[in-house]
This record gives sequence, structure tokens and C-alpha cells, in this order.
Amino acid sequence: MSSFKSYGKVDEHEQMVLEARRKTRKRITIVGLSSIVLAGVVFAAVFGIVSTTGDTSQGANDVHSVNNSLKAVCDVTLYKDSCYSSLGSVVESGQVRPEELFMLSMRVALSQVSKAAEYFGDHDHEVFKGLTDSRTKEALKNCRELLGLALDHLNSSLSSGENSSLLDVFEDLQTWLSAAGTYQHTCIEGFENENKALKATVVSYLKNSTQFTSNSLAIITWIHKAATTLNLRRLLSSPHQNEAPEWLHSKERKLFLTEDLKKKADIVVAKDGSGKYKKISDALKHVPNMSHKRTVIYVKRGIYYENVRLEKTKWNVMIIGDGMTSTIVSGSRNFVDGTPTFSTATFAVFGRNFIARDMGFRNTAGPLKHQAVALMTSADQAVYYRCHIDAYQDTLYAHSNRQFYRECNIYVYMRSRLESFVNPSGWLPWTGNSAPDTIFYAEFQNVGPGASTKNRVKWKGLRTITSKQATKFTIKDFLQGDRWISASGAPFKSDL
Ligand SMILES: *[C@@H]1O[C@H](CO)[C@@H](O)[C@H](O)[C@H]1NC(C)=O
Ligand SMILES: *[C@@H]1O[C@H](CO)[C@@H](O)[C@H](O)[C@H]1NC(C)=O
Ligand SMILES: *[C@@H]1O[C@H](CO)[C@@H](O)[C@H](O)[C@H]1NC(C)=O
Ligand SMILES: *[C@@H]1O[C@H](CO)[C@@H](O)[C@H](O)[C@H]1NC(C)=O
Ligand SMILES: *[C@@H]1O[C@H](CO)[C@@H](O)[C@H](O)[C@H]1NC(C)=O
Repeated sequence: MSSFKSYGKVDEHEQMVLEARRKTRKRITIVGLSSIVLAGVVFAAVFGIVSTTGDTSQGANDVHSVNNSLKAVCDVTLYKDSCYSSLGSVVESGQVRPEELFMLSMRVALSQVSKAAEYFGDHDHEVFKGLTDSRTKEALKNCRELLGLALDHLNSSLSSGENSSLLDVFEDLQTWLSAAGTYQHTCIEGFENENKALKATVVSYLKNSTQFTSNSLAIITWIHKAATTLNLRRLLSSPHQNEAPEWLHSKERKLFLTEDLKKKADIVVAKDGSGKYKKISDALKHVPNMSHKRTVIYVKRGIYYENVRLEKTKWNVMIIGDGMTSTIVSGSRNFVDGTPTFSTATFAVFGRNFIARDMGFRNTAGPLKHQAVALMTSADQAVYYRCHIDAYQDTLYAHSNRQFYRECNIYVYMRSRLESFVNPSGWLPWTGNSAPDTIFYAEFQNVGPGASTKNRVKWKGLRTITSKQATKFTIKDFLQGDRWISASGAPFKSDL
């Protein structure tokens, strides 16, 4: 998801940024389209050469095949020069298959993010030394955290790619690489309102790492597309067996569906002192780190005035409340009073495989305080079931990775009920009067008084989609939800 800004505040600089982004997106679209057309042809050629040089007659042919793979692979990226310069110097001889180039590209990305993290981690760095503004200092702190998350996601992608066939873990790779890119862009966005020189420095520190992350994502997307088109799955199988993670054992899954979770909870939090802890944050401190076993926390009714962070080391946590209007977490951090958007969330989730049920999250800062997030999720495979999320600007910050919401009070677009409070024009431009033609917005088979699309804005980017296109956005295809959502007990329909 892109950045969140105060609507209606437009200046020239912003317009320029927007224009630049628009151009970049256009470029991405064009690259995307041309790569689809070429993918099959080029990929076949590359594989043809690789397999004919598989025996002992090598020599010049090898170099040729290296050049071919490299060209094929770098051609699909947005930053071709970076691609050639980084991979070309490493790949000097021998046969290199596209998937090996992909792994190499991820290693380069990892090392560049690691290097960037060093710059930001250097507290004595002259650029960051004289900072006094609290929001800028917080933005810098956020960058350190965000780059840490980017490293984790690249690292997970690498181990996943090493241990499994790339095609078997394609959706994970795509999700995590995309998240790694989002984290770096969020770091940059934290400096959007600050002085230009500082922002330029931040952008330059992240130039290599963002480019290599983007390239890696483009390469794996291309490999997947080409291999699927040509049915080359067999060729891409790795010698290692597939060790795709089992998110939840079926026995455990059954338990969650049948037992009264509140009675089974590992930890009880209650404001009135009838539980082990009075604050959710205190309970979370005692959740084991990186646990593969689920920890269930029951939070009894009451309003909990605290800002909660589910840290990235807290895996497989489930929080269950007494109802979306009975157990409420409440905070009021906001942008106007000096907190970057990323840090305003009342409830922020970084730990993977999180589940919340029957809970309310709110930010009470009010509309005058601009960005003030109630719930932010930056973790992979998070489920929210019967939750209420309440605030003004940026109520829900669905930051990165795969997330599922069911029977929650916020917003929705597909096969959903839209009430009469939905403005008939449906969509607002992000800023100014620019009606973006490069966005992809779609409404599909919604019902209710607000569902008619007759008077919607006439933007190129707002599309009428077919069932076939809608299939891409189903739980099965878009979220790979069959693997992980049932653990929450939330009902869902996996395809259209
Ligand atoms: C491979 O590419 C490099 C530069 O891109 C070129 O100098 C070299 O001659 C090429 N080798 C072969 C065998 O095509
Ligand atoms: C990547 O993960 C491995 C363990 O899987 C760890 O040893 C290594 O330090 C990690 N690297 C980074 C840069 O986080
Ligand atoms: C991946 O494989 C390496 C050895 O190739 C092993 O050391 C590592 O533990 C494996 N990681 C996972 C997540 O299975
Ligand atoms: C970015 O990568 C290039 C080589 O591709 C290198 O010359 C340059 O020093 C790198 N920049 C930073 C900031 O690390
Ligand atoms: C989890 O890890 C953090 C830091 O890595 C440590 O401070 C904390 O004590 C650990 N918590 C538990 C419950 O092991």
C-alpha cells in the first residue's frame, strides 16, 4: 500500500512527486506488458541453450548462454543498468540459469539493504546528528526498524528459495519481496514533510537497495509467468525437497474451531484485575519469542488505554475479546501532534500469523489531527474476525503482506454489502484533481443501497472486471488463504 497523506493538501512539489510516480507506474505497466509477450520466447531460448550446453562441449557456448540468461533476466527489470552491473560482474563464466540469477539478485539486494541499514544505524552519522525535531527523529527510528523488517523478509525469501522449488514458494517470494520494497518506501515517506536535503540523502542511501529489491521481484514474476506458460515446472524443481511451512497443524486447527477459546486461553488480561495482567502490552512481553505453537490471549471486556505493539518476534499469537464493542484498545497518537503516520497506530502488528477475534481498535485523535491510525498490520498472514476498527484519517493501515478481514466494520469492494452512506461517485482522488488512470480500482458484484456503479467517477483506472479477472482477487489466488485463514475460525469462501 502506498503512503497516506492528508487529503486536499496539495502543493507544487507534491504534484511533481505524483507526476513522477505516475510516470514510473506507466513504465512498470509497459515493462509488464512487453515482458508478457516476450517472456515465453526468451525463456524458451534461454532454456534451449542451457540444456544443449549441459554436456561436455562447452567453451564459448557457455559465455553465450550466460549473456543470454543475463539479458533475458535484466530485460524484465525496471533498473536494467543496476541489474547488469551487479549480476554481470559476478557471473563471469559457466552456465547460469535464470533462477540462479534470481537468487543472486536477492543476495545483492540483501547486501545492499544491509549496507543501508548500517548508514541509518550509525547514530553519529553527520547527516542525522543535529536532528532536533521529534517527528524527524522518530522517522529515523522508524527507518531502522523498517530496514530490519526488509532484511528479515529478504532473508526469509532467500532461505525459502534455497530450500524449495522457486515455483512452489512463488507466492511467498512475491509477497515478501513486495513487502521488503514497501518497508523501504515507507522509510522514505517518513521524511516527506522534512527538509529536501535530508530527504534526498535518505533516498540516495536507499537507491541501490530499492532498485535491487524491485529487480528481484520483477525477475521472479517473470520466471513464474514464463515457466507457467511453457509448463516448465519440472525444470525448475530444486534438488531439495519441498519444505513449505505448515502454518498450523490440522489438530490444532480443529481445536480452535471446537473449543471455547476463552477458557483455553494461555493468558488472561483483565482491566479489573481478575486476570494475570491488566494491560495487553504486559501480557505480550511474556509471550515466547518465535514460537511455532499458538499463544491464545483472552482480553476481558473494558477499554484498554494503551498503544500496543505485537513485535516481530511474537509469532502465532491470537487475541480474543468479549466482542468488538466490548473489548476495545484505545489510543490517540497522530501526525499533527508530531508522530509520523507509521508510529501512530493504537495497535500495531509485526508478528506473523496473528489472529484477532471479537476486538475493537480505535484512535480518538479526531479529524483535525490528520493521520491517526487505529490498526496497522505489517505482518504476513494476519486474520481479523469480527473486529471493529474506528478512527478518522487512515483508520486501517494495511501496510504489507497478506491480510484477511471478515465481519469487521471498515470497508470492502467485492461481493460485499455497501450501505447508503457510500457516496454515489464512489471514489475520491488521492490529492488535487488528478484522476489517476494508472490505478487499478474495481467493484465486483456488490449489493446494497451503495453498490450501484452508475454514478461512479469516470476514471480510466476504475474498471469493470469479468469473473475471470475477479478470480485473481479471490482468497485462494490473492491470499493463498486456504493455508492459513481457517485457523482463526472465520468462515470464508476460497474462490468466487
Ligand atoms: C557477452 O556480453 C559482453 C558485454 O555485454 C560482451 O563484451 C561479450 O562479447 C559477450 N560475449 C559473448 C560470447 O557473446
Ligand atoms: C538470515 O537468517 C539467518 C538464519 O536463518 C541468520 O543467521 C542471518 O544472520 C540472517 N541474516 C540477516 C542479514 O538477517
Ligand atoms: C535451508 O537449508 C539450509 C541448508 O541448505 C539449512 O541450513 C537451513 O536450516 C534451511 N532452512 C530452513 C528454513 O529450512
Ligand atoms: C550502489 O551500487 C553501485 C554499484 O552498482 C556502487 O558503485 C555504489 O557505491 C553503491 N552505492 C551505495 C550507496 O552503496
Ligand atoms: C524475546 O526477545 C527479546 C529480545 O530479543 C528479549 O528481550 C525478551 O526477553 C524475549 N522474551 C521472551 C519471553 O523470551
